Amino acid sequence: MIRPVLQYPDPRLTRRAEPVSAVTPELKELIFDMAETMYARDGIGLAAPQVGEAIRLVVMDVSGPEKRADLRVLVNPILTLRGRDVDSEEGCLSVQDYRSTVCRKEFVHVEAADPDGRPLSFDAEGLLAMCLQHECDHLDGTLFIDRISRLKRAMLDKKVQKKEKR
Ligand code: NI
Repeated sequence: MIRPVLQYPDPRLTRRAEPVSAVTPELKELIFDMAETMYARDGIGLAAPQVGEAIRLVVMDVSGPEKRADLRVLVNPILTLRGRDVDSEEGCLSVQDYRSTVCRKEFVHVEAADPDGRPLSFDAEGLLAMCLQHECDHLDGTLFIDRISRLKRAMLDKKVQKKEKR
């Protein structure tokens, strides 16, 4: 089932999410729905708080949006960031019609659990590393627009306020 994606400035996007404590049929259903929602919206990543579930769960597929060949599901991910600062051109399904360059780290090491609760870990660079940092930010209530300049943010907020009045 495709779920509605919360839109900035919904306050639920700014809360810290809780760890997943058990794999349940509801969790599996949520994972399935999140993947379906991400694909339907041509996204490459989606975090549970974006569909109103305040738990530490993300889905991503950086082979998309054209191909759908690399679905990754991360439960309770923990990132270790390495390398130099790099520019990352980003957008977000929760911030419509907006893209900006933000600063990320070059390399990421991930520790997480898979949908069955088994531990998994891997190293990432490039788009996957950027996507991991973006999605895991969502779990701490941080959006990529929290990492842009104050001037750019003020301009975005003005645009959003105008849209809300309509
Ligand atoms: Ni996002």
